Amino acid sequence: MSDQDALKKQAAEAAVAEAEDGMVLGLGSGSTAELAVHALAVRVAAGLRVSGVPTSERTAALARRIGVPLTDFAVHTQVDLTIDGADEVEPHSLTLVKGRGGALLREKIVASASRRMLVAVDGSKLVDRLGRGAVPVEVVAFGWQATLARLEALGVRPVLRRSPDGTPFLTDGGNHLADCAAGPIGDPAAFDSRLRTVVGLVETGLFLGLASRVIAATIDGVKVFER
Ligand code: A5P
Repeated sequence: MSDQDALKKQAAEAAVAEAEDGMVLGLGSGSTAELAVHALAVRVAAGLRVSGVPTSERTAALARRIGVPLTDFAVHTQVDLTIDGADEVEPHSLTLVKGRGGALLREKIVASASRRMLVAVDGSKLVDRLGRGAVPVEVVAFGWQATLARLEALGVRPVLRRSPDGTPFLTDGGNHLADCAAGPIGDPAAFDSRLRTVVGLVETGLFLGLASRVIAATIDGVKVFER
């Protein structure tokens, strides 16, 4: 296991330690969130009673395979605690960039339906200012070329995400993704509002006011940031 993976595992395990008996948990997507699902499976096998709302088909398949019980919004419209990763975290505001794993829409729906969102990351995800990498946005497949042209006109240099075979990447919801590079984002809320003026854009990967606590495992130890 690489040093970074070891830190991801440490953060994921610290997050899962906060799960309590009887909770409905949001199960995030991405490599750190999957490590959290593995840690949760260990606690479930030891007797913890929880059920999870998965944020992607991939996470759902993993949870089923390793024995984490699942539920859905037809049964629970409110989630107690979501545990998810992030691509970038601004520690002072707990604003996040998510979606480089392709699951941002479901992740945001689950986070928004949660009493608390706990974010587990390795230290490399901490940034002084968001925008170190691209901000993914989910766009409707119909007319994506026109939608990307509108985004281009906003100056955010959108690039359509593609699958390894070269076809446009399809999210679990059947949408496409555009990775938008805008450089350092001074005002995430204003940037988010600007993106949202584009018709055909479904959701952005900026998570504003959703994270309640961030557990960051760094080479200097575990750091916790909260609102
Ligand atoms: C998935 O769509 C993303 O939002 C992930 O949470 C994010 O990409 C972090 O993934 P890793 O834990 O694999 O870095």
